[in-house]
This record gives sequence, C-alpha cells and structure tokens, in this order.
Amino acid sequence: MRLTDTGDLWWKTAVVYCLDIETFMDFNDDGVGDFEGLAHRIDYLAELGVTCLWLMPFYPTPGRDDGYDIIDFYGVDSRLGHHGDLVEVLRTAKDRGMRVIADLVVNHTSDQHPWFKASRSSRDNPFRDFYVWRDEIPKGAPTNVFPDKEDGVWQLDEKTGQYYLHNFYHHQPDINLANPKVRDEIAKVIGYWMELGFSGFRVDAVPFLQQDGDPGVDPHELLRSLRKYLTRRAGDSVLLGEVNLPFEEQYEYFGGEASDELTMQFDFVGMQNLYLSLARQDARPLADSLRERPVLAQESQWANFVRNHDELTLDKLTEAERMEVFEAFAPDEGMRVFDRGIRRRLPTMLAGDPRHVRMVYSLLFSLPGTPVIFYGEEIGMGENLEQPGRLAVRTPMQWNSAANGGFSRARSRRLVAPVTPDGFGPAHVNAADQRTDPDSLLAFFEKLIRRYRASVEIGWGELTIIDAGVDCVLVHAIQGTEGSMIAVHNFSSDPQVIDFALPNGMGSNAELVELLRDGGVVADEKGRVSLALEAFDHRWLRVHSTDDKRLS
Ligand code: NOJ
Repeated sequence: MRLTDTGDLWWKTAVVYCLDIETFMDFNDDGVGDFEGLAHRIDYLAELGVTCLWLMPFYPTPGRDDGYDIIDFYGVDSRLGHHGDLVEVLRTAKDRGMRVIADLVVNHTSDQHPWFKASRSSRDNPFRDFYVWRDEIPKGAPTNVFPDKEDGVWQLDEKTGQYYLHNFYHHQPDINLANPKVRDEIAKVIGYWMELGFSGFRVDAVPFLQQDGDPGVDPHELLRSLRKYLTRRAGDSVLLGEVNLPFEEQYEYFGGEASDELTMQFDFVGMQNLYLSLARQDARPLADSLRERPVLAQESQWANFVRNHDELTLDKLTEAERMEVFEAFAPDEGMRVFDRGIRRRLPTMLAGDPRHVRMVYSLLFSLPGTPVIFYGEEIGMGENLEQPGRLAVRTPMQWNSAANGGFSRARSRRLVAPVTPDGFGPAHVNAADQRTDPDSLLAFFEKLIRRYRASVEIGWGELTIIDAGVDCVLVHAIQGTEGSMIAVHNFSSDPQVIDFALPNGMGSNAELVELLRDGGVVADEKGRVSLALEAFDHRWLRVHSTDDKRLS
C-alpha cells in the first residue's frame, strides 16, 4: 500500500473515546463536569492511547434529552465553561496528538431554539419553513423513537393549528432539511467548529434525515453535499454516522463505492450479534454478521463498539433472539428500556468476571475497523439502575475512591448525576487504583491499545473467518500488506482445544508470536495450528514472515 493512498486516513487506525463533559471531571466544584476538568484529564487519555475524542453535545440546552436538545448550535453551555475553555481542550488534545470530533445534531433542535420559537409564532413567520408543518397527520406515520414517552411523531401546535414533525421527543421538532436556507445554516455550523479545530463530527440520527414530505429529503444527496463541503475545508476530517440500519442500507450511507457520504459508521448489527453470541456462548451469530458486512471502499471504515451512551439496542435481532439476550444479561424488567434495549454496562452483565470482560474487549480491539470506547469502560464501570432510562449508564467518571469518586468536590446532592453505588462504585472501581496495578483492567486496555496501534492491519486489512471446529470459538485472520494476525476468542466458560488451518498465503511452518502474552506456536507443514484455550480465553497471534519488520 502506498503512502499516496493511505496518508492522512487517520480514522482507519484511530482509538475513539466518547465522553460527556458534564459527567467527566468537575474542576470548579459546582457538581457539573466542565471543559477545564477535561483539559486536566487529557494526559490520562493520552496515556491510555486514545487518538480521537468524541465530545457529546456541549451546546446550550434545556437538558431534556441530555444535551441532544440544542438551543444554540454555535454556543457552549455555560455550566461546562466557555469557548476559551473549549479551545484549551482542543489545543491540549492536539499537542498530545489527539483529534477531537463533536456531535452534530441537525435532525432537530430544542423547542426553545430561537428558530422554533419564531417558526411557531405564526404561519407567515420567515422561520416557519425551518421546520416541518402539516395540516393533518399524514397516513402511515411511523412510531416514535421513544415509544414509552410519545404517542407519535406529529404534535399539534394549538396556536397556529398545524402539526409539526418530531421523530424524537415532542420538545425536539425536526428541522426542515429540504429548505436550502436550513442547509446553508448547517454548513455554517460545520464551518464554524472546523475553524475552531475540530476534525469532524459524529452525525446524530442519520436515518431520520429522510423526512416525510413534499418535496422530501434525499438524505444521500444531503450527506454528499455536507461531506464535499467538509473535505473542501479540511481534507482529513470525518463524518462518523449513527446509522442503525441493515448493512445494505449502511453501505448506501457510506456512498457505496464512491465513498462520498459518511466516512465511518457504527456497526450496530455486529454489536447486537456480539451480545447474542455472548448470551449463547456461541461465536456463530457474530461470525455470520462479520461475513455479511459489506466490503468498504478504502476511505470508509466501520466503527466497532460494545457500549454507547444510549440503550444497548437489540432491535435488529428477532424477538426470540432479543429475549435470549434479555434473559442472559437483563433478567429484570428494570434493566431494560423501550422493550428493545438494555440499560446496563458490560461488566455487570458479565457478573464482573474479569476473564469474560477482557475477552470481549480483546475482541473489540481485534475486529476489523476502528474501536470506539465509552468513558469508564476502560476501568470497568457499572451502571446506576436507580437513574431513569438511559441515564443509568451516564454516571460520573470514577477517578479515585474519594467522595464522589473524585469527579467533583461538591456536595453529593449537587452532582449532575449520582455516582454508581455498591459493588461497582468508586470504592471498588476507579482509575487511580488501577493505574498502579499492572493486573488491572485499565492496564489491560493500555496494552490492548498499544498492540492494536502496532497492528495496522486491523484497520486496513482483509478479514477471513477461520473454521475452528468448535462453535464457541471465533478465529479470525486479518491480512494486510504490512503483515497479518490471527485472533482467537473463546466464548465458552469451558476450556477448549482447537485445531485450524491458516488461510492461504500465510504459509506452512509459519511462526505465530503471541502479542498479549509470552510465547507462540508454530504451524505444521500443512499450515495447521493447534491451541489449548482456557475458559473465555483470548489470543492475538502475529503471523511472522521474513519481511515483517515489526518487533513482533
Ligand atoms: C441519538 C442519540 O444518540 C440519543 O442519545 C438522542 O436521544 C437522540 N439521537 C435524539 O437526538
């Protein structure tokens, strides 16, 4: 692969870390995390090996959807600091070689946004067309994304006697993306944050950009124009899309072969099948979804994740499969949300079993694509089920075992959210203790990230799923121009012995060097490898060839 093809495609081998400023680190002791707090924690993230920060919405907001209800696209919520504090974060991150991307939420605004206030003031207001209004509820209207809170997606506005569209909460009216003036406004917002130093955006709610109506919106055309605009301003910037759709539709949202829409997309299908595999102790659902993943153009990339800030959605599984996962990992009704997802973090779902937790993260970092971590995953944080809905997993970062987990020195009742209680609380799970413990989950993450970053084939290479002879073990090979590796993951709580053939091109008598522990194995003259695996074992093996110039 030539530098002229690959240079600057930093997202292909990035480590993305998602955080919400308000729950990360409080520096002014008011109980709410802030930019200054984050600036003081950039070195922690750099040491972990993070190369790209994804900042969840930090804009002024009434806070009825945790910041995804925005009242000023150019602002910084005063609880978090001001623009100067944000610029310090950007500068410090850049100094440590880290990129920063922001949430771009342009499907809707808050109903407190000045555009909507003007739009609803009268039918002939110049901002009326900034939103989607109808005289009647159109036939066949879809169900709302939040079915426990909203009856539908159209809300009657008494004053002007028309209905406005809201795919999410009724206080989040959808912007009229068919309006060219609105599109120019979005472009200005993008341009503004790019000038301040952002390297791109996580694009919220992509499937909903396709709005009902006349003339309607072609979301692909919209994304193409935004991507073009973005890359004219900064060629190495990205759009990371939230597109929870089947693979064929995701492929379209990459722009297919042209690769001119979203740069990256989360693999929701893979994530859901991972949980099905974990529930069944059977690697096949995950293996099947990896096989079905469309092969992407060189510039495009999958973003792999095991947790995000929302419900852990299982909506792409069948009803029966979803129930299997619920029964395994969210047996109580209170652990579920919207009838389609789980509001727990991974370690509590796996009963805190370190072998099992490490196996899953080893897998995350070895799957072809770019890993995305949600803050606190690296130390194994749990959730607070006393918090409503999705807020259960949005508790303060646990820095040490002091009061409030070192997140804030404010009185605990003033905290933006209570810290996680009990067994997964700061007394047992915190960054400070793990930093000095070579056997901690944090130390494991640091090692995984170092190995991942030295194994560029994970971001670039070609995937082969290898038949391991037993259904509970996933063996996958990734072959790149600079080298190849094999990853082995045992989904079973029982030890296994496997025997498999290396894919073509890896050769007979190949030497396989362990990347996460000492030792290695040698393939026989037919290119077959035997391995004895412990329960929930995970192995990364570099396939050594004479022209591989890496350390191992
Ligand atoms: C998707 C975000 O991930 C979620 O947190 C939010 O509630 C909706 N979009 C609405 O903005």
